[in-house]
Amino acid sequence: MSEKKEIVLSGIRSTGNLHLGNYFGALRKFVAIQDNYDCNFFVADLHALTTSPDPEALHANVKNIIAEYLAAGLDPEKSTIFIQSDVPEISEMYLLLNMHVGIGELMRTASFKDKARKALGLGSAADNESEEAFEKEIIGAETNKRVNAGLLTYPTLMAVDILIQKATKVPVGKDQLQHLELTRRFARRFNNFYGVDLFPEPTDFDFGGAPVKVPGLDGSGKMGKSEGNCIYLIDEPKALRKKVMRAVTDEGPQAPDSPMSEPVANLFSLLELTSAPEVVESFRKSYADCSIRYGDLKKQLAEDILAITTPIRERVADILADDAYIANVVRRGAEKARERAAATLSEMRHIMGIRKF
Ligand code: TRP
Repeated sequence: MSEKKEIVLSGIRSTGNLHLGNYFGALRKFVAIQDNYDCNFFVADLHALTTSPDPEALHANVKNIIAEYLAAGLDPEKSTIFIQSDVPEISEMYLLLNMHVGIGELMRTASFKDKARKALGLGSAADNESEEAFEKEIIGAETNKRVNAGLLTYPTLMAVDILIQKATKVPVGKDQLQHLELTRRFARRFNNFYGVDLFPEPTDFDFGGAPVKVPGLDGSGKMGKSEGNCIYLIDEPKALRKKVMRAVTDEGPQAPDSPMSEPVANLFSLLELTSAPEVVESFRKSYADCSIRYGDLKKQLAEDILAITTPIRERVADILADDAYIANVVRRGAEKARERAAATLSEMRHIMGIRKF
């Protein structure tokens, strides 16, 4: 008696290598749920094109992420692992769904505003300029500083990734929740408009427990590609140790039981993710009694991170050397992903009145 498993889907933009934030925040959890869900993990290379159109870099990044997915334990025997652009049905559905998406709602999306400002060289939105001024900037922009239309319709494409597979559980980070909300809205809108029940409304996958916080090494904020504060899964030991040793700290606790500054608290967060509880505890004690030496903490942290990343890095190298294996994995993944995508697209076309004579 095989109960139907819930469909889980998540993607990652191919804009660089995977870092510890991706690992603890996503990959490690994906690996853990592969047996219990119908898992679909893909590389969002079309999404990457919205901000990084360099062809050689795009191709290399897609390959790297597939290798990193596999090296971290995603298993093509259990999960469907594919590349977004290998599923042309996604591009067609993107066109169709866009007919039911408003440019206003897209322009109000936080990620669009951020990326549009970057494209126009406007700096962050901290200064409370009006919507109107911002819109004027976009419409009046010189063509060499344009905000590309792909950036605007990014949420449509993401909704399509999800809806075309009829996925109901979508593990995403906080920064993607608004896109997921839009996906639900588009699904509901389409269903209501045509009086059908085609798309289920997806929700965030709840892994339970507190969300994992993976800070960067620069003293503030989370680890992120664009922050330049990352430890990558494929960092060589020497480079990795150097990065950790250079992490921002402070002048040390000045009195017993002092509160921790953000940079130091961040190092402890990383230590908690990677080190044994006794190790964390002993550094907490030495912080509390002011005997701590940050250099010792960093050395320990670097070695404990390496214990996690070294086997992954070694597997990445093996996989990258085996083009035939990678090709085989993504070909099988695309076949599986296309099967469901084609079925959904065909229903959608029919519902919308695109029918054969
Ligand atoms: N936008 C997501 C990100 O930047 C990547 C993504 C694209 C995605 N399509 C998706 C995530 C579908 C989940 C489901 O992180």
